[in-house]
Amino acid sequence: MSTNQLDKKSQAWSALFSEPMSELVKRYTASVFFDKRLWQADIQGSLAHAEMLQAQGLISLDDWAAIQKGMAQITQEIESGQFEWKLDLEDVHLNIEARLTQLVGDAGKRLHTGRSRNDQVATDVRLWLRGEIDEIGLLLIELQKALVNVAEQNADTILPGFTHLQVAQPVAFGHHLLAYVEMFARDAERMIDCAKRVNRLPLGSAALAGTSYPLDRERVARTLGMVDEAGKPAVSQNSLDAVSDRDFAIEFTAAASLLMVHISRLSEELILWMSQSFGFVDLADRFCTGSSIMPQKKNPDVPELARGKTGRVVGHLMGLITLMKGQPLAYNKDNQEDKEPLFDTVDTLKDTLRIFAEMAAGITVKPEAMERAAKKGYATATDLADYLVKKGLPFRDAHEVVAHAVKDAIAQGVDLSELPLDKLKAYNAAIEQDVYEVLNLRGSLNARNILGGTAPAQVRAQVARHRLRLA
Ligand code: ARG
Repeated sequence: MSTNQLDKKSQAWSALFSEPMSELVKRYTASVFFDKRLWQADIQGSLAHAEMLQAQGLISLDDWAAIQKGMAQITQEIESGQFEWKLDLEDVHLNIEARLTQLVGDAGKRLHTGRSRNDQVATDVRLWLRGEIDEIGLLLIELQKALVNVAEQNADTILPGFTHLQVAQPVAFGHHLLAYVEMFARDAERMIDCAKRVNRLPLGSAALAGTSYPLDRERVARTLGMVDEAGKPAVSQNSLDAVSDRDFAIEFTAAASLLMVHISRLSEELILWMSQSFGFVDLADRFCTGSSIMPQKKNPDVPELARGKTGRVVGHLMGLITLMKGQPLAYNKDNQEDKEPLFDTVDTLKDTLRIFAEMAAGITVKPEAMERAAKKGYATATDLADYLVKKGLPFRDAHEVVAHAVKDAIAQGVDLSELPLDKLKAYNAAIEQDVYEVLNLRGSLNARNILGGTAPAQVRAQVARHRLRLA
């Protein structure tokens, strides 16, 4: 047949079919309107495949040259917006292949030798996702750097640390921010680890059983940069598995969900801290909106939306994992449904990371409000108990003594540090003048000078460690 068969999909699929697909079914089964964003990966994969076909003597040098020329033109057409995407041609793969055949004739028809759309699409999604994970890694570094900078400026800033959202003990605001840096560092590790399993080559698996052509799969893997840590080609080892599992996409979305959960917790704190009741921080105006009716309002829309979008990403994880669960081996059309959740996860994540790095850099900290809140909450009560333990009292007894002192201080409306020495001595005779050193917030902070603790010296050491790590 000399005409372009692929272009005839508006008629019957092949000679086997006696009628064309209905319009509704065509729309229902097509994916081109979303999977066209895989076009670069599709062309990259096709070129690597064709180069190998030529090296193996399966197509001629002339065919290889024609395919390269055709793909260069298609690239130019897509980039300039001239490429005509056709619903009739179902997906990105058939659209590009049909155009190639239109441009270069038989060489285009030979491209699909030893290949199926099943191993093609699995390869494309992996290539595309690999690039996106690299970008996400860079964005994660930027966000961590921004947080480390604010943490350094606030190594000495006193924040009431909370448990149960009740004032517990003073912590350095810098220490608090570095907790998020730890979370994002683990998120970055998860992304890097996941990328190892994403970056493996399905091509050569063909539809499901492998192929009878003598393909050089390792050559294709090397061309595409699908290599393991030792630089050896990373090639799938079972054709059925390679065309049918989407665990790599699920794994990525799981890592993305965790990352968004961390973003969401930070968002929740920013929202609380910015409220009038806390007044701990202010976000730059460009990240907030006003109200159409209440002129005094400045709303933290960006963190609120990020908190909301976390639900969306977690939803995509549920969608993908449910998509997989009932499928028999090997490829099923169900898998076409992997793309939209995956694409949206990547888009949501990248936008959120970008905006958070900028927002973190522009945060205004209000140390007086933080300190006032720490005082109000008797944040040094534990320090008084520890003081008594160091004077020989068993901890449980010390705990009880301090509970009495706090109760009286609350009744009088004063901080523990404002109680005169003779009053304090009445709770326990061991209490001396030096108690005031531990009752002030700064003394409490400095005392926790242990690895992982909140003492400003520790915060500075962590800042230095993160800087080295992120350089
Ligand atoms: N558009 C399809 C997908 O995204 C490509 C693979 C189609 N394979 C098939 N045998 N129908 O999964």
